[in-house]
Formats: sequence, C-alpha cells, structure tokens
Amino acid sequence: MCGIFGYVTSDEENLGPILIEAAKRLTYRGYDSVGAATLNNGKVDLRKDVGKVEDVSAKYNFAEMRGSRGITQLRWATFGEPSQINAQPHIDSDGDLVGAHNGNVVNNVELRQQFIDEGMTVRSQNDGETCVHGVERYLNRGYEFIDAIRLAYGDLQGDYAFVIGRANDDKLYAFKKGSGMVVGIGDGFTCVSSDLPSILPLTRKIVRPQDGEIVTLWSDRVEVRSVKDGRVIERKPEFVTESMDAVQKGGYPHFMLKEIHEQPQVARELLHLLDGSPEVENLVEKMKKARHLYFVACGTSYHAALIGSVYFAQIAGRPAIPVLAPQFIAQYAPAVGYEDVGVFVSQSGETKDVLNALEAAEKRGMASYGLANVIGSTLTKATSFCLPLCCGYEISVPATKTFTNQVITFLYLAYRMAGRDTRELEKIPELMEATMDATSSQVESIAKDINQWNDMYCLGYGATFPIALEGALKLKEITYAHCEGMLSTEFKHGPLSAVSKGFPIIFVAGPNDVPLIISGVNEVKVRGARTIVIAEDDPRLRANADDVIALPKSDANISPLLGVLPLQMLSYHMSVMRGFDPDFPRNLSKTLTVD
Ligand code: M6R
Repeated sequence: MCGIFGYVTSDEENLGPILIEAAKRLTYRGYDSVGAATLNNGKVDLRKDVGKVEDVSAKYNFAEMRGSRGITQLRWATFGEPSQINAQPHIDSDGDLVGAHNGNVVNNVELRQQFIDEGMTVRSQNDGETCVHGVERYLNRGYEFIDAIRLAYGDLQGDYAFVIGRANDDKLYAFKKGSGMVVGIGDGFTCVSSDLPSILPLTRKIVRPQDGEIVTLWSDRVEVRSVKDGRVIERKPEFVTESMDAVQKGGYPHFMLKEIHEQPQVARELLHLLDGSPEVENLVEKMKKARHLYFVACGTSYHAALIGSVYFAQIAGRPAIPVLAPQFIAQYAPAVGYEDVGVFVSQSGETKDVLNALEAAEKRGMASYGLANVIGSTLTKATSFCLPLCCGYEISVPATKTFTNQVITFLYLAYRMAGRDTRELEKIPELMEATMDATSSQVESIAKDINQWNDMYCLGYGATFPIALEGALKLKEITYAHCEGMLSTEFKHGPLSAVSKGFPIIFVAGPNDVPLIISGVNEVKVRGARTIVIAEDDPRLRANADDVIALPKSDANISPLLGVLPLQMLSYHMSVMRGFDPDFPRNLSKTLTVD
C-alpha cells in the first residue's frame, strides 16, 4: 500500500532529513520504491528509485534536498512494474507541477491515453502520474488551481489520496477519494500524509479531510474546501493522544485485527480495480478457450483456489481443477500443455512451492497467469500477467484480507465467464461490514466457551467446504489447537467416533444447504457435541444447533465469503485468550521461500 507525505514551511530549508524520516515512518505500509521532491523558487528537485528508503535516500542524497515544500512517497506497485520511471513523485509535462498519490486510479489506462492524445508528456505507466496530468489538463485550459483540482477530481475514478504542488508557489494541495488522509498543523509548518504515524512525531494537532474535500496547505494554516462547489468548510483541528504503536495498528491491539477490519475497504477497492482492468477481459478470454483450467496455490491461497473452482463450475458452468502447488508437479505437470491455462495464486508471490509449480507448467508450455498481492514479486514477473489483490501490506502471518480479496477475484472472474452483471457484487463490502457488526461480540463469547478444547472440527459443504478448511487452518495456525476442516458429509465416515460431551463442532452452511446441515448437526449433537452453525439466520437452524452465528442475508455465492469473517475472529480471540501473539505465531513465517 503506497504512502504519501507532504510538508510546507515558509522559507527554503533543508527538507531532506524531514522527508527521509517521514518516509521511514511510512514503511510499515509496505513498498517497493521511494521518491522525494522539493519545490522552491520555480524549481523542482526530484529524486526516486526502486529500493529501500535507506538505500535510495543514500544513493540519491535526499539529505541535501532543500526547499520550502517537499513531498515523499513510498510506492507499492499496482499500475506499472516497480521501476525508477514508475516510482513517485511525478512531474507534469513541463516539470513545474509535482505530485504523488496512494491508492488506485482505476481509469488510469484510459486517462493516460487521453493525456497523450492531448499532447501532454506522459513518462510512466503509473496512476500517480495520471493524477498530476489530471490537474495539468485544467491548468492548461486556464482554470485556477482549486478549480483545476475540482475538475480533475471528477475525472479520476478509484480510491486514492493525492498531494500536489507547483514550483512557483508557496502551497501544497491535497485531496482524497476513498483512501485515508491526515493533515498536521505544527509550529511554522503544515504537513499531510496517508496516515498518522508519519505525522505524529512532528505534531499532534491534526485535521481529517473527508472524501470530496480539497486541502490547501500554507506554512501557517490549512484551508478545506468542497470539491462540489468550492466553498470553504470549517473544520476544527483535533489533538491525538494515542501512542505511536497504537496508531500504527490503527488503534487495534494486533495487526491481524486491523487487517480483519480492513476487509470491506480493500474489497471495495478491489472491485473498482477489477472493473477498470483491461487484463480481466484478457484473462477471461484465455480461460474460456482453455482445454483445462488449473488453479494452483498453497495454504490459505489454496482455499481461495478451491472456492474459485466451485464458483467457476456453479456460476459459469466451467470446471476448473484446484490443486496444491507441489501436487500439481507430482500429478498434473506431465499431462498439461499449451492448450491449458493455469492461474497461480499467492499473497506473497514468493512461495517456493508455487514458483516450482509455475516452472513445471511453463516447461510444458502451459499459459500461466497470476493472482498476487505483492506486485513486483517473482510470481508477478514470471507469469504473462498477474492481477493485483489490492490489499496493501498484510503484516500478520495469518492471511485474512488477502484471502477474502482472492475469493472476490474468483467470484468476479466467474461472473465475467458467465456474462453476468458484476454490479451484483458491489454489495459485498457493506455485507462484510454488517457481518462484522452482527457477529463480533457473539463470536468473542463463543471463543471463551470453547477455548479449553484443543481438538475441534470445522465442517462445510459445497462453497462453504473451502471456508471450513480455511477456518480450521486459521484456528490451527494461531491457537496451536488441532482443528480439522472437512466436508460435512464425511464426518460420519470416521471422525464421528471422536465426539464426546461438549466437543466443539463448527458448521458453515450455505443458504441452500440447511436441511443437510441440520442432519449433520443432529448426528453429532445426540453424541454430546457442542454445535455452532455459521449461516444466514434460519429458524430451522436455531431449533437444532446450540449456537447460530447469523450472517446477513445475501446469496449462495456471497454467503460463504461472509462466513469466513466470524472464523477469523474466533481464531483471533482464542489466540489472544491463550496468551499467544496472533500476528507472529511460533514456527511460521509470512513468506515460505523454501521447498
Ligand atoms: O503467500 P502465499 O499466499 O503463497 O502463501 C501461502 C501460504 O503459506 C499461506 O497462505 C499460509 O497458509 C498463511 N499463513 C495462512 O494464514
């Protein structure tokens, strides 16, 4: 997830050290490239490259940069590979405007082409540059800066925060749509950033701009205006009292909880991005023509691949083979060829098992595409193209937001394969929010009830089967208890003998599977099990199960996705109750680069 920081003071000074420190405080968001620009007396000094803050700032001597205004940006690639030209900040055609953004401008490709056709100098593929030209377009047409921004705001679709300045000026301007942005007011300076950690060591007096607002920053004051009509909006500054650690975790005690709560927002951003992506159409066409389709992954990403194959069969009538990456080599690699398509799924894009499978597939000439969160990772470079998961940095070892965005990507692709209207999926983020609101406290109390058990099951059927596997993996990973995920109908074929009084069994039920789940519930309940059902509310389930964790009403495709949220929360609470750190479970690492 990119991060921006802008700083305004009254006279020229050595801003380099301030920009370097601010950039360092943005690094926890994840990044691949770093840049800084200072503005003074009609001149812009711009330095940037791929690499770590320490390395890039030393190589280009950021420390010597002087100006009365400065911008620094950490880039997490989405549009355009990590490279010096795609790194931010960006300048306009004649180099007197400089700006940087975080987030995604989803109509980047169309706007870039318009700017090229209008004769502007477009240097990169990056959507941060698109924001700069978006403002340049209207300045060229004679508009005042604020009006140019108001018009650009209407053109730039997506979720982003953006800061821009002009060389011959004394101000910076910032605006946002969908992404976070905070403005700081200090003694003799003002600043703006994607979030608080880069601002707090400088000042605790802040203003929080809303979507549809433009902030002008002078060295001694800020002014907020409405994009809609340009009028000034009164906004009283507030004082932040939280610690730096709490602020980095967004006020949550752990990154995992923060990332769980980020899911609706990253889902919203992903859906916007997929709508605007020409690569989606390309991938859908390739998959339609494929002889066989393989979804290849490990761990949590494999569970997303599994539910993807359910969606493809049920929604698009297209069978796809979900396979664990090492098993792909052992079982399918000898049989695949150039007529087949493989979608390789990985949060990190660095999982060795997945890269090995990709290598085996490519040796056989199979067409290979990726789904990854870390753009610039090996997977994104080694596949023909890779759709971004758009989650920003996932710090906690247990994957949460990357899983739900993988599932949403598969659901979206299945809709496109079937020619269905993807606008039906726009309700997903609100449904996720409603699920968290409706289930959080009940899940915490169930966690207390079952926490003494070190053995349990999580059962599902159809599209909820992969969700049950994922819930079981989360529970194992961070509570260190044994939890087995299984197809609900398989339970009677053996594991039933393990049931004793109070033995916890969690069922995840789709809206069409209620009668089947009721049979399963009763089968174990009569033998003493404590039955917990995660499903849309249904009097038949309430009449049979000990606990029903009720999901908001949706449909048979979306409901399983919602069902994973209480399972993530259950694992989280049990882990914390056991005194473990859910972010960094023992023996595990976020990225497995070994065989
Ligand atoms: O980065 P990847 O998605 O390729 O990682 C695959 C697994 O190692 C990963 O999903 C692992 O299972 C998670 N830590 C589970 O939360």
